[in-house]
Amino acid sequence: MKKKKRNKFKKILIVVILLIIVIILSLLNFGVLDDKINKYKLGKLNYSKETIDFFDKKDLTIPIIKYNKYSKTLEVAISSNNYIDRYFNNYLNIIYVDDEDFIVNINKLMDMGYSFSDVNKIYEKLEKKYIQVVTSSEYIGDIQKYLDLSYFVNDNLERYITYHEKMKDLGYEDVVTYVNIGLDKDYYTDVNDISNPDDLLVLCNKYNKLSSSYVPNDLVKVDSNYSTKSNTLKKEVYEAFLKLADAAKLDNLKLLVGSGYRSYQYQSGLYNSYVARDGVIEADTYSARAGYSEHQTGLAIDVADGDKKYLDEDSAEYEWLVNNAYKYGFIIRYTKNKEAVTGYQFEPWHIRYVGVNVATYINSNNLTFDEYMARIK
Ligand code: DAL
Ligand code: ZN
Repeated sequence: MKKKKRNKFKKILIVVILLIIVIILSLLNFGVLDDKINKYKLGKLNYSKETIDFFDKKDLTIPIIKYNKYSKTLEVAISSNNYIDRYFNNYLNIIYVDDEDFIVNINKLMDMGYSFSDVNKIYEKLEKKYIQVVTSSEYIGDIQKYLDLSYFVNDNLERYITYHEKMKDLGYEDVVTYVNIGLDKDYYTDVNDISNPDDLLVLCNKYNKLSSSYVPNDLVKVDSNYSTKSNTLKKEVYEAFLKLADAAKLDNLKLLVGSGYRSYQYQSGLYNSYVARDGVIEADTYSARAGYSEHQTGLAIDVADGDKKYLDEDSAEYEWLVNNAYKYGFIIRYTKNKEAVTGYQFEPWHIRYVGVNVATYINSNNLTFDEYMARIK
């Protein structure tokens, strides 16, 4: 009797096991189990149930599982109903930013032709309020190069874009540099009052003006052996010039201070006399208006030769300056072929003290002082 019962139990067990095997096989066959596992995996990745259903509907389950990554951008795109099929891969790779119009904006950027890495860079570098400036402008192919410049200024974005569209041949570095200088605007417009006139790196040009009352507080008289007339300079500049002139002397060249510090009033008289002679347009190409001259800082020198004549381009003295001035902290301030940047004609005689390090950098990078300053923002 006992044996019979045991046999019956065995039979039932076998049937149950077989039944379970059949059920599992049929579930696998219809993909039900697979489906369950996949949904579990997506849930583990952090996707919501609605998103997981959406993936299912769009046959995206397998690609996402292969990618094995949660993308908040993708999830938000789907839940906001702004999801666009062809941007699936981009959504996966765009880093989510908490911005009300994020999906609408990135859709616009992608419609314009920007890649997901462009979009990431745009959101990384631009304040949110400037995204609209990009979406309402023309496509910029090298936008990442613009945004990666250390001297790219968010507030200048609109001006960069306008200037870039106007000056098609300019590279991105020059566009940003020139706009930072102010060159997209007419000279003498949007002028800043110089706040650091005593600084050795003070920038005085057609966009940056000295106060009419500014006088450097450490002017010293230039020895008559080093000067064509009575001149003064800032002390540090004078000392550097003595070294420079003495070094030139060793090469049998005489360098003299022809014109050093000039007061606001003196510059005003000078400029006005040039205007009377040549008219404003011409005078502005070679003379600074009062308040706009570097000579008022005591950092600039018009260099003369032993005959008390200002250096010309073909002179040995000028050539010597080109090769040596930087070693003593001076740069040639208004160089040839940079007239459009400095706003002045080439002046082989005008040097400006900036210190040895900056002079060396400017010299070896073929920059003007205006460009140098526009790139250290
Ligand atoms: N000649 C230079 C630009 C000046 O007047 O300062
Ligand atoms: Zn000068």
